[in-house]
Amino acid sequence: MFKRTLVTTALPYANGPVHIGHLAGVYVPADIYVRYLRLKGREVLFVGGSDEHGVPVTIRARKEGITTQQVVDRYHELIKSSFERFGISFDVYSRTTSAIHHKFASDFFRKLYEEGKFIEQTTEQFYDPETGHFLTDRNIRGECPHCHAAGAYGDQCEKCGSTLSPEELINPYNAETGNALVKRPTSHWYLPLDQYQEWLEKWILEGHKEWRPNVYGQCKSWLDGGLRPRAVTRDLEWGIPVPVEGAEGKVLYVWFDAPIGYISNTKELCDAQPERFGKWETWWKDETTRLIHFIGKDNIVFHCIVFPTMLKAEGSYILPDNVPSNEFLNLEGDKISTSRNWAVWLNEYLDDFPGKQDVLRYVLTANAPETKDNDFTWADFQARNNNELVAIYGNFVNRALVLTNKYFEGKVPNSSDFTEYDRQTIDEFKNVKAQLESLLEDFRFRDALKEAMNLARIGNKYLADTEPWKLAKTDMARTATILNLALQIAANLSIAFEPFLPFSSAKLRTMLGLKDVEWDALGSLDLLSAGAPLGEVSLLFEKIEDGPIQNQLDRLARIKQENDEVAKQAELANWKPQEIKSPASIDDFDKLDIRVATVLDCQPVKKSERLLQFKLSDGNGERTILSGIAQSYPDPSVLIGKQVLFIANFPPRKMMGIESQGMILSAVDADGKLVVTTTSRVVKDGVSVG
Ligand code: 2FM
Ligand code: ZN
Repeated sequence: MFKRTLVTTALPYANGPVHIGHLAGVYVPADIYVRYLRLKGREVLFVGGSDEHGVPVTIRARKEGITTQQVVDRYHELIKSSFERFGISFDVYSRTTSAIHHKFASDFFRKLYEEGKFIEQTTEQFYDPETGHFLTDRNIRGECPHCHAAGAYGDQCEKCGSTLSPEELINPYNAETGNALVKRPTSHWYLPLDQYQEWLEKWILEGHKEWRPNVYGQCKSWLDGGLRPRAVTRDLEWGIPVPVEGAEGKVLYVWFDAPIGYISNTKELCDAQPERFGKWETWWKDETTRLIHFIGKDNIVFHCIVFPTMLKAEGSYILPDNVPSNEFLNLEGDKISTSRNWAVWLNEYLDDFPGKQDVLRYVLTANAPETKDNDFTWADFQARNNNELVAIYGNFVNRALVLTNKYFEGKVPNSSDFTEYDRQTIDEFKNVKAQLESLLEDFRFRDALKEAMNLARIGNKYLADTEPWKLAKTDMARTATILNLALQIAANLSIAFEPFLPFSSAKLRTMLGLKDVEWDALGSLDLLSAGAPLGEVSLLFEKIEDGPIQNQLDRLARIKQENDEVAKQAELANWKPQEIKSPASIDDFDKLDIRVATVLDCQPVKKSERLLQFKLSDGNGERTILSGIAQSYPDPSVLIGKQVLFIANFPPRKMMGIESQGMILSAVDADGKLVVTTTSRVVKDGVSVG
């Protein structure tokens, strides 16, 4: 059976800061798991690090006009310190540009190469003759073959969403230089996944039915589709050179070297502190070690199929026992995006909410995207803090401590006989330990947190029901029993919440005068001895007012506006005259009754961001038309007195409770704003246009 657990977390690309999506998807769940195991006294090693190769970091470097090394140095430090500040308790957090990793990954490749585990293939790839470089899919742009948008990427058209390969692009060019590309043959080494198909099917589909349905399902669909050889080298400069003669200008594919980083980081730690962590081989090659990879859903194929195949091909490694993968977290209804700055960056959060690491850990776990994509909203963040952490957990603990200070000079009071109600309360939390354990072992952190919160709820209800502040006037012995039990529950809470909210648990233990605790003490009623002094009392959680929340919402609104502006500019830059529509006859045209009218009045429609209400003089009298151009006319009164063209014979239509009798014709100007159309000289209201 397993004797120790090795936990790894996906190595984030060092091309930007980390955000709440990273924390919710991978690092908080992994940290909860590791803290739980440590508290249980199990042997565990927690490995993380930055992924510093790959195209994303080089793109960032060119954008910022600095070297790639400078980019990864900057973000590695930022990411590392963000994790530290959030209490992600890695035993090692290293990086894939380290000398140890370069050598380790290089040796790993070399071994597979020498044992003939790769196949070599020559294919035609896009090449920029001017720069002398082969290009990766993301660095190639061209016209989308589907929607004909200009500037689609070699892997995807962002306009119509189609998945593309560079071969499909019309007139492909180098995204950075604009140079036209040619095809050139190049040879690479491939991991022949197809040769491992049968073994993978057996290992995953038969052997790991317990994996989360999203993980198992993705693996099954890859396997059902039939695996093909996958290139593990690239024509790039940034990366680990392929250690084979004649492979100059080629590096290991980032997805080949990054997971090896889990091993090389373990080696770095164990070599530095062998007396504490033992030999790295024990963690990676001993069948009694249980390997768990925490990842996001976009990494499933690499951790369940590609990396295990690499390990199997090498032959001396253990394989992952589980790969708990989360879905994605969205932010206020939109996909989190580094390039669009649509994220809550951890370093900024810590500046804006100092000392509130646990609040974010709590909210991200309570709302973790374990089975489906979830949404982070600032309103939910505030509500969970104020209504759960403050009103239930904090309130309970605070009452128990303050009352003890008030009536028992800050010392744990003596307990005497329990009442029936006390016993009921005790019964309710007797099972918490077993329930929490089974949920945590099952990687169901969201439900586990709910269970821990339930314990706080039980405590809070117990004090509200027994009202010791009233009893203190008449029955000191009973008051003492109640407060003793309340303090014992609070001590239990400090254990139950330790994996989830480590900062608050440490604070609570200090207030309770409790030394180190262990998981197995959970459920005990004598964690605190009568007469023991409490520590200094302060609030465990503080209410979050509307102001800071509004600041966050304002920031996001500004970013949205900037993004809309950028998108509009990009659209204008790519603007081309539309194709002429299919032929129409004069009869078709005659069906439309286009006329001229004078604007008598023009007002924004209440509660609508888009609509303006026009009152027109159309020659026959007055006519009301609603037009969706409010964004283009912040002061609609400028239109009063102007003549406009409108379609007079569209059937009336109700919008926002107002009947609109036709349509005003508008065009788009160079800024993307809608402008009403008019005649070049004043004419009589009601005349037809034709
Ligand atoms: O998706 C990512 O952010 C990758 N950098 C994850 C790599 S995980 C592992 F293989 F190192
Ligand atoms: Zn397209």
